Amino acid sequence: MHADIVVLPGDGIGPEVTTAAVDVLQAVAQRFGHRFSLHEHLIGGAAIDATGKPLPDDTLAAARDADAVLLGAVGGPKWSDPNASVRPEQGLLAIRKALGVYANLRPTKPHPAAMGASPIKPHLLAGVDLLVVRELTGGIYFGERTRTAESASDLCTYTVPEIERVVRRACLLARGRRGHVTSVDKANVLETSRLWRDVASRIARDEFPDIVIEHQLVDSMAMHLLSKPRAYDVIVTENMFGDILTDEASMLAGSLGLLPSASLGEGCVGMYEPIHGSAPDIAGKGIANPYGTILSAALLLRYSLGLSQEAACIEQAVDDALDAGVFTADLASDGTAVSTREAAAAVLARIAAPA
Ligand code: NAI
Ligand code: MG
Repeated sequence: MHADIVVLPGDGIGPEVTTAAVDVLQAVAQRFGHRFSLHEHLIGGAAIDATGKPLPDDTLAAARDADAVLLGAVGGPKWSDPNASVRPEQGLLAIRKALGVYANLRPTKPHPAAMGASPIKPHLLAGVDLLVVRELTGGIYFGERTRTAESASDLCTYTVPEIERVVRRACLLARGRRGHVTSVDKANVLETSRLWRDVASRIARDEFPDIVIEHQLVDSMAMHLLSKPRAYDVIVTENMFGDILTDEASMLAGSLGLLPSASLGEGCVGMYEPIHGSAPDIAGKGIANPYGTILSAALLLRYSLGLSQEAACIEQAVDDALDAGVFTADLASDGTAVSTREAAAAVLARIAAPA
């Protein structure tokens, strides 16, 4: 097949990890006889530097026309002046909203070889396989903001349709898994959470009688995620809670650099990115873990292009590289760390000549 893929490297380690994923996509194209046309565009701080805007019009237009979008990360100290009128993160929020990718799928399945990097005891990690579905285009990240010298406010709003569609997506995904959904909110305090809980209960009851749904408050969820992670299958939650809980979930896998994501809507282009940020502390050193972005490319093939065999090939290659102990510095503890390029090369070699 032929597919047009827009690549948005962004800032910090974004270009390093997207380069690795692009190489992997080209290797898959080569092996399976596809043609992927990859076009790079600006977003975030890099776009602000070049055009003054965090999301230039031609970037959005190209993303809309593409078959899929692969993104690195945006942001960094260079653009963090609190008084700046434009910020890199505005570009990311704007493209998610404009594309309508309201459901952000963040799977976590600790790999046995990488578990040593996790601070959680191994017996708690065995068999963990969870999928967080984070609402991505609503909530407090998109609410009205105010700021005076003495106060500031961020408004959190959710509408019934916004909750319905993401809960429905989570329930559908649970059908293909273990049939269990945990809806996470703060319904003891927040009105948006009480609405969330009502809607989630109704959708599950009326449309998914085969799915078991339970509700969990976000604070105790943060604890249970570490104390009994095996208990969870699909976790669905609002934007900010999902953001925070998935960085926490990454510690089950051993590193933030391992987790991929897929951002999906209805009848729109899908966007794929690792869950981490631009990691300014390690940017430019060539040591970032590229696996989260490479695995995001696998999700791109599966969800946007329908190439499940090719997606599985990438996932197997990453699994095999981890089994072989090909670890970047975030995973290696004993001086055996490889560079971003070496980790990517290990995956490429396994795609070209599978074990
Ligand atoms: P971060 O996710 O960039 O980094 C957190 C920690 O994890 C750092 O110590 C970093 O070195 C490490 N890390 C992250 N990805 C890694 C990888 N692939 N390999 C090895 N280590 C990795 O979060 P932080 O430091 O809070 O934010 C830095 C910047 O990134 C900020 O400007 C923030 O706004 C932005 N950001 C952007 C996101 C995006 O573009 N989707 C998401 C989160 C943050
Ligand atoms: Mg985050």
